[in-house]
Amino acid sequence: MAFPTETVYGLGAVATNDRAVAAIFAAKARPRFNPLIVHVRDRAAAGALAVWNEVAERLATRFWPGPLSLVLPRAEGCPLSLLVSAGGDTVALRAPAHPVAHALLEATVLPVAAPSANPAGRISPTTADHVLDGLGEQIEIVVDGGSCPIGLESTVLDVTTERPRLLRPGAVTREDLEATIGPLTPEPAQTHDRDLRSPGRLRSHYAPSLSVRLDATSVAQDEALLAFGDRPLHGAAQTLNLSPPGDLVEAAANLFAMLRALDRPEHRAIAVMPVPGHGLGAAIRDRLERAAAPRSPDPHEP
Ligand code: TXA
Ligand code: MG
Repeated sequence: MAFPTETVYGLGAVATNDRAVAAIFAAKARPRFNPLIVHVRDRAAAGALAVWNEVAERLATRFWPGPLSLVLPRAEGCPLSLLVSAGGDTVALRAPAHPVAHALLEATVLPVAAPSANPAGRISPTTADHVLDGLGEQIEIVVDGGSCPIGLESTVLDVTTERPRLLRPGAVTREDLEATIGPLTPEPAQTHDRDLRSPGRLRSHYAPSLSVRLDATSVAQDEALLAFGDRPLHGAAQTLNLSPPGDLVEAAANLFAMLRALDRPEHRAIAVMPVPGHGLGAAIRDRLERAAAPRSPDPHEP
């Protein structure tokens, strides 16, 4: 369901539920699995999800609840869907200040993943009507909380590095941040903006160690098989099926966890059966193509 926050309306799903998170990507028709911001009630609710450091603590104390999303390493045994991290090792967390968002988080108890509630490539909605204009056919519920007071997305700050990096400028300014924690990495926000639009280039995105072979129509004994549909190939050393009934939302929900599970040193490669390119299949194929692409030694281009 869509709900208001102090920045823009979000399209929310329980962040621990792979199917629910996959349904966000389907509703928005996102061509790629960008990582999603996970909304929590407060700092305490975010405790078990990420590995906190002192800088992050200070920022949360100063700016939460509010329009600041903190990118942190996922905690060991983090219960969040890997889809919210686009398969990577980090997660963006934010405690929204809007009373309706807060009430929703109180009611669900669980963390809520929520990108802006607009179709991919369109501008973020700041009223319930904007949400219905874009996603009226795709979603069942919009909680109408009037106009969003800020109307601009949250600031996204990577606090996994020694000097935090501004990934998306937003309602909390660079000056606000530097007044609290000192200088950020002095890079123009533009560069990162471009990186964010092709999130596969971000270091945090998971690339399997094994080589990945796409559109496999046969499989060798020393390969692992990522199957799709009701006629999986036979003979692989290990097989996992993205979706036996051929359901693309189920396949998206399983994608990252299954890739990780097959990425074991005893296999020679991961063979992937063909996945159709329509609907969520486009994002699934995009991610698989990145996993299959030749590796660059540059850590920024896994
Ligand atoms: O104000 C907001 O942040 C709104 C409301 C609903 O909270 N949400 C929002 O989400 O704008 P979205 O998905 O439209 O934008 C999330 C941004 C993207 O630029 C994404 O790449 C970045 O945050 N992001 C999320 N998780 C990340 C991560 N683990 N590492 C790097 N960037 C991340
Ligand atoms: Mg957005």
